[in-house]
Amino acid sequence: MNTQRTPFVGSNWKMNTNAQEGFALIDAIGGLMQDGGVDVAVFPPFPYLMGIGERIKGGILLGAQDIWHNGNGAFTGEVSAEMLNDCGVNTVLTGHSERRHVIGESDELVNLKTKRVLESGLTAVLCIGELLEEREAGETDAVNERQIRAGLAGISEEQLGKVVLAYEPVWAIGTGKTATPEDAQNAHAAIRALICGMYSPAAGGAMRIIYGGSMKPSNAGELMAMTDVDGGLIGGASLKADDFYGIIEAARGSLVG
Ligand code: PGA
Repeated sequence: MNTQRTPFVGSNWKMNTNAQEGFALIDAIGGLMQDGGVDVAVFPPFPYLMGIGERIKGGILLGAQDIWHNGNGAFTGEVSAEMLNDCGVNTVLTGHSERRHVIGESDELVNLKTKRVLESGLTAVLCIGELLEEREAGETDAVNERQIRAGLAGISEEQLGKVVLAYEPVWAIGTGKTATPEDAQNAHAAIRALICGMYSPAAGGAMRIIYGGSMKPSNAGELMAMTDVDGGLIGGASLKADDFYGIIEAARGSLVG
């Protein structure tokens, strides 16, 4: 972790919890929170956003797992930026691997959604990362580059200030397999160099690049000790308040240590 960048730690609940469990989780995380140093966001399922928003405390940011790329209108089943703003959402995930590879979202749709997030004054956490077969074929950096160039198409350097990039190797998500700190660092350094080239060294230097894929309290410290790893996006381990808080503490620890 580079101390010039504020770490970002996100809790992606995916399609988990019921209302009662979600409220208990946000209460427990809020009760543990200490001031400052780390940006912390939770991404509950859509139906619980308002309820969670009313209970949230300790400076935790409210996030959404998805967005539709048009304004309100005839888009049955979708959720607009206006609705998310109304619920107090501050941050939105785009390009998560489950949306790309399970739901079938294209690079182009991810780009439209990311632009919509930024035009609406929200922060985008744009997720990228390679499949196992792409990794084995030595294509990790090429896949990341393709997804970043497509995902950020038409986004200005000014808007980039409200983008966090989440490098999430697909083979590590929900599998218990984590990238080694060295592998994560290599991928993150290549991503930062790409942003420096696409925009400017200042933009690349300021960009927060977080890691996701089976991060837990026991491996968060070594991952976030890497120069270019600026936090984490956590699924499974973030459904337990103590484990999620352990990862927040690891992020804080990486700032001083
Ligand atoms: P995981 O999920 O921590 O359960 O691997 C991470 C993610 O999908 O963001």
